[in-house]
Amino acid sequence: MSTRAIVLAAGMGTRMKSKLPKVLHLLCGRPMLWYTLRALRDAGVDEIAIVTNPQVDTEIAPLAREFSARTVVQEPQRGTGHAVQIALAALTPGAGTIVIAYGDMPLVTPAIFENVLADVDADAGTVLALVTARMPLPSSFGRIVRPSPGSGRSGVEKIVEARDCTPDELAIDEMNAGIYAFHEPNLRAVIDKLSDNNAQRELYLTDTVALLIEAGRRVVPVVVDDYRAVLGVNDRVELANARAVLNRTLCETHMRAGVTIVDPATTYLEPDLVIGQDVTLHPNTMLCGDTSVGAGSEIGPNTRIHGSAVGANCAIRESVVVNSQIGDHVGVGPFAHIRGGSIVEDHVHIGNFVELKKTLMHADAKAGHLAYLGDGIIGERANIGAGTIFCNYDGKNKHTTTIGAGAFIGSNSSLVAPITIGEGALTGAGAVVIRDVAPGERVVGNPGRALRARAGAEPRPQLVADPD
Ligand code: UD1
Ligand code: MG
Repeated sequence: MSTRAIVLAAGMGTRMKSKLPKVLHLLCGRPMLWYTLRALRDAGVDEIAIVTNPQVDTEIAPLAREFSARTVVQEPQRGTGHAVQIALAALTPGAGTIVIAYGDMPLVTPAIFENVLADVDADAGTVLALVTARMPLPSSFGRIVRPSPGSGRSGVEKIVEARDCTPDELAIDEMNAGIYAFHEPNLRAVIDKLSDNNAQRELYLTDTVALLIEAGRRVVPVVVDDYRAVLGVNDRVELANARAVLNRTLCETHMRAGVTIVDPATTYLEPDLVIGQDVTLHPNTMLCGDTSVGAGSEIGPNTRIHGSAVGANCAIRESVVVNSQIGDHVGVGPFAHIRGGSIVEDHVHIGNFVELKKTLMHADAKAGHLAYLGDGIIGERANIGAGTIFCNYDGKNKHTTTIGAGAFIGSNSSLVAPITIGEGALTGAGAVVIRDVAPGERVVGNPGRALRARAGAEPRPQLVADPD
């Protein structure tokens, strides 16, 4: 039987004091709601409905699409029970189990959803399993009231919201996490019986517990060991706390899989990274988006890699790599910037203050210092001298610079694209090259002109090159 879920995200999240809907605030590179949706999918939930409000629905829609979820608009917002009424009205009735979760719990894991799902057993009368956690007081969470000893009953008797608690109830340290698995027909049987006779004059989803108990059903708690896994995020302080916990978890997962992280507190990771064995991440390293790092590479310190594939045994220091691919045994930095779909093949060296944009650098090529290499194709073993500029932009269009294998570009050369420098060709220091250079040809000067040997005299181009 298929499993469905309703995720509540229609609250305004006023404590965030933000124009952005609360559930779209980012932590570790993904919106808060992403984590709930991902955990539900990983727990095997087939169908997801997200309850939104008219102000945020279009902003949440793209994320819903990513998870093939639908949105259902709730207007006005009359409480969590009302949100579930609206969602159930939009779904064709099912006979299976339905998970209900809140969209502001980014630390929730698939195992938590699996556990509540496993504990619902309608044939045995258990029609609701809900997650609870012991946590330090004071707390604004709803309190879990258990049957009094000697009543002969077990499970959960009712949930009382903090604002509606008696002093005795306020002293209870078992909280309602806000994650439920209901047998759907039983949920539908009580959902319209909720009343707003409470401190907030809202329809509380939590009141379904007492209604189900009255109807002779059983409600069981699923206690999580660590309450931090179910902490909701209500303001930006809690967002930062949740991010720190999540980042630590991501670091620990990779460390246990064979990655050295010198300082997890200053290493910033995101979900779904692929990091090979014996990679070392130095402090102040950020790995973002769809990024992979091959075995044995050293990344950082002070490095950001976004949406890029880095090969094995590379060293990338104090640099930024965005949307690019880097081969094996590549050295980058310090202070290099590689971006725009650049492809760097094996054994390339890219040194201090070099920027690569949408450039293909073939194996064993070098650009040791201070260069802008945009829209280029650089041949194998080519050596790009310090201060080289690919003048790729004429004010309207971008043009390609092609450099042949083994070519030697002297320091401070300006190569005015579109241009091709042939294999083994050479430009002198400070050359401004405005036309193609033939294979093996040498050019010097401004603008670069053919250097013709005078009879009996050897040409003496002023070359400044640093083979490092
Ligand atoms: C709720 C629970 C409480 C639990 C706590 C855990 C109820 C009545 N209380 O309290 O027992 O300990 O979560 O974090 O359920 N929402 C809607 N529509 C509405 C109202 C809320 O979609 O009309 C959504 C909110 O966007 C939010 C979630 O439901 O994602 C929870 O609502 P919130 O008002 O934050 O409930 P809490 O007071 O935190
Ligand atoms: Mg809340």
